[in-house]
Amino acid sequence: MDKMVVVGGKTLNGEVRTSGAKNSALKVLFSTILAEGTHQFQNVPDLKDIQSTSELLASLGIHCERNGQDFLVHSGSLKSMEASYDLVRKMRASILCLGPMLAKYGEAVVSLPGGCAIGSRPIDLHIEGMKALGAEIELKEGYVRAKAKKLRGTTFLFENITVGGTENVMMAATLAEGTTILENVAKEPEIIDLAEYLNKMGAKISGHGTAVMKIEGVEKLKPASHSVMPDRIEAGTLLIAGAITGGEVTVMDCVPHHIESLIFKLKEAGFKISTTASSVTVQPLKQWDAVDITTSPYPQFPTDLQAQFMSLMTVANGTSVISETVFENRFMHVQELMRLGADITPKSRVAVVRGNPNGLTGAPVMATDLRASACLVLAGLVAKGETTINRIYHLDRGYEKMEIKLGKLGASISRKS
Ligand code: UD1
Repeated sequence: MDKMVVVGGKTLNGEVRTSGAKNSALKVLFSTILAEGTHQFQNVPDLKDIQSTSELLASLGIHCERNGQDFLVHSGSLKSMEASYDLVRKMRASILCLGPMLAKYGEAVVSLPGGCAIGSRPIDLHIEGMKALGAEIELKEGYVRAKAKKLRGTTFLFENITVGGTENVMMAATLAEGTTILENVAKEPEIIDLAEYLNKMGAKISGHGTAVMKIEGVEKLKPASHSVMPDRIEAGTLLIAGAITGGEVTVMDCVPHHIESLIFKLKEAGFKISTTASSVTVQPLKQWDAVDITTSPYPQFPTDLQAQFMSLMTVANGTSVISETVFENRFMHVQELMRLGADITPKSRVAVVRGNPNGLTGAPVMATDLRASACLVLAGLVAKGETTINRIYHLDRGYEKMEIKLGKLGASISRKS
């Protein structure tokens, strides 16, 4: 199993490019179930989660191939209506095949994803949404078994904001009979990206990016071409990497507007940040102030940047209060940061971080999930001596060539088998 070894103390400088967004690419790949033919994508990142999605689609009879800059998906009539446990357990987002299969083929059998390191993450709202569209759903032997002769448009209010739930029900509603109104939907940029691809395929979706979405059902969708949006979480992680080492780093090929909440907090901490239409630059700063953050659905501070921001706060001046409101168990990285010498008191969904500018020292640590891995890499960049991050496969699920990108900026980082 690969490990990442980081020797702290190097200041990062230079320009780095953002890859395509994992959380958008996965969804547009699942949406190909809705239309037979060849779909053409660009900017699909080369990640473990994309491989897992390709494997799942292949098990259904849909074949993906990389062809230079293009990522082609050859969608045809499904040979199986079942997404098996072995494939779904690798990646929770696999539940996103439920809506498209149900809408196009009138049936779907998808393994329940089960719990994961960052909380129980139920799918009750996905299921309620499908039921509202007229599906009959049974949970049996660890599988969701869904059936519907024809989905029918409806008005559905999400009790809580859910990104995956919004995407799943939105995809299902594209082929429903009549109009669907979805209320209290998530507004994440990845949802807008998916809605834009669905509209290119012939769907009639409006209101994406706002709290209420309207989907007028159509009879058929056709394949189209789409360039996946830049990964805002990767962009934010790279920006924090520059900030934490006191360097000047420009993150290119991103949408600064997508990480406005992070930029706002970095400025509050004392960093000078400048933006163009497609890049963000953090200026060198020796000492920064502790600031509080509270994670919430977009456009507020993303839960997917909470762990990375916590690393920055462990070496800030003063005490920061970090509140996690999206997931109930997303402080797994705290114990590992403490192994590096961080002074943190976690209490349920709040962590109090007492910053110490020279407080981190390298140690072996364990990555517990995707964003926790990134937070440990960032902490390793400023810890004195060597930090070895075990279970780095989590990082490979969501960050494309992280060590190469950081290495080019001047970090001392290497992968060891
Ligand atoms: C997506 C992202 C993930 C990000 C999260 C929140 C992907 C592949 N993953 O995850 O990186 O951290 O959004 O921005 O895009 N919930 C329910 N019932 C449901 C569904 C969700 O109670 O049916 C709860 C979850 O347990 C969680 C909260 O709602 O507490 C938000 O989850 P959700 O927005 O659905 O996250 P994901 O789509 O799984």
